[in-house]
Amino acid sequence: MFESTPIDFADKPKAYATLAAQLTALLHGESDFIANSANTAALLSHALPDLNWAGIYRCVDGQLVLGPFQGRPACVRIRLGQGVCGTAAANRQTVRVPDVRQFPGHIACDAASQSEIVVPLVKAGRLLGVLDLDSPKLNRFDAADQAGLEKLAAVLVAASD
Ligand code: SME
Repeated sequence: MFESTPIDFADKPKAYATLAAQLTALLHGESDFIANSANTAALLSHALPDLNWAGIYRCVDGQLVLGPFQGRPACVRIRLGQGVCGTAAANRQTVRVPDVRQFPGHIACDAASQSEIVVPLVKAGRLLGVLDLDSPKLNRFDAADQAGLEKLAAVLVAASD
């Protein structure tokens, strides 16, 4: 059983370091990417404040395909270069969107989403997929969130095949 006390995000670097340690322990001994994605989405969804969607899209045959997530049902397939997820995947760089209405080509899965961050998951040059977080608040994700989430993404990638 996994239990944890609430993490205080007033100090983001400390909070993400705690989360990274929790995620490392949670994924220890398991290399299945889908199972590890499911536990990553569940951990983040419960630990991070102000999220309405947290999940993973897998890269399958050159497309992003919906993977494990917490939140409302979402669009299943996204082409590389399309939307926030496809842009992060194509460029293999994190994309932070303070206001999704200002992002050309943003794919609206949940009308509540106002800001978004997408972190690519790359293992030894191979794109496994992307980690996608949506928030009902504008400008929810700052540079400290990006740095912390990139560390969490690295934990997921390192653990998984
Ligand atoms: N908004 C994303 C699509 C995925 S949902 O947010 C879950 C995008 O533009 O790629």
